[in-house]
Amino acid sequence: MNKSSGLTYRKDYISEQRWPWWPLLPLYPYGRRRTLFKELIPDQIWSFEQLQGLYYVAVPVRLTVVKVAGGLMLFNPLPPTTELLENMTSLQKDYGPVLSIILPTASGLEHKISLPALSRAFPRAELWVSPGLWSFPFDLPLDFLGIPSNRTKTLFKDGLPHEDSCTWFSLGPLNLGLGRFQEISCFHKLSKSILVTDALVGIQAEPPDLFELDPTPLLFHSREKGSEPLIDTIQARKKGWARLVLFASYLRPGKLSIPPIEFVLRNAFRSGVRSPRAHFGIYPFSWNEDWQESLKELMGEKSPLINIAPVLKRLVFPRAKDSFSKWLDQISNLKGLRWLIPAHYSAPIAFNPSDAKRLKQKLFSSAWTSEKGDWSFLDGLDRFLFKNGVVPKDPLEGFKD
Ligand SMILES: [Fe+2]
Repeated sequence: MNKSSGLTYRKDYISEQRWPWWPLLPLYPYGRRRTLFKELIPDQIWSFEQLQGLYYVAVPVRLTVVKVAGGLMLFNPLPPTTELLENMTSLQKDYGPVLSIILPTASGLEHKISLPALSRAFPRAELWVSPGLWSFPFDLPLDFLGIPSNRTKTLFKDGLPHEDSCTWFSLGPLNLGLGRFQEISCFHKLSKSILVTDALVGIQAEPPDLFELDPTPLLFHSREKGSEPLIDTIQARKKGWARLVLFASYLRPGKLSIPPIEFVLRNAFRSGVRSPRAHFGIYPFSWNEDWQESLKELMGEKSPLINIAPVLKRLVFPRAKDSFSKWLDQISNLKGLRWLIPAHYSAPIAFNPSDAKRLKQKLFSSAWTSEKGDWSFLDGLDRFLFKNGVVPKDPLEGFKD
């Protein structure tokens, strides 16, 4: 056991949580990926969650395992640590082999990055990827990326997997200039669940269970300045979580300022924060007193608030609202729909066709976004890209029939 950091965990777990490929996309928590395994819908759907983020702004990323005819389907890859694979082995004993791995997004780097390693862990599984998969900074063929082309198919172009268990439909494609946005959704008929990637999120005020394994990111962001030590309380966890959500949603929240460097340094390297875990007391943020006002739009107090992810709302869909509206209509028409399972934040979330209609009504009856407040940074970014011709005027350009 290791108790030196205030946390208790088995030392031998560290090797089971190792992710050697982390330098490919150097996100927190780097080479050590703790995984939370959960059954979401009894005997039908399971989830593996890991944290991914920058400067402790880390939100859960999910691999969803779905029971299909004859075995299991993995939806959205995650780094296959020993810990994850051990749980997968016991699932396979009970429910059959992993038949397929689905990468349902063309653009979501945090989902793409672990497909090669996951495909090597399941050498007999068929791989299905989103149309228009692209790599950055160079657009390379699949085999160069470590994705074996001899067992890889493209969704829709080469057919669709598990059609007896699933219905598939697409959000996009849209031309983002730098690459394509497209995500493929899956309706699992038996559990009545819709699986999405980034387009919809459901966020709750309660921090996700995954932080039980290590609440450091929450405690780090719950403070007002770098000299405050990281103290683990329920209130600190909730406060830190709310701020993480604001960062992850708006990149630079409106009620945040960057203090002068002298202020940051004056509060750094103090006793109690002189450790890598506390980033040596370097905390370059200052929150306005009314920062919690921004949470109303983002998170539900008792249950997750379902919404389009703000980054996508402002950077992907401002000129393609119709595509989003049509996609929501398709969801509203799924008979018997009961659950929403996104690749981030809470899952499963109760979600029926009326909820989808209400969400559409809410989104399309008021201004799409604003130029001010929390939206200001994303708004400026989109305007800059648009003005400089990076983003095309018509995001459907090249995709029209
Ligand atoms: Fe994502």
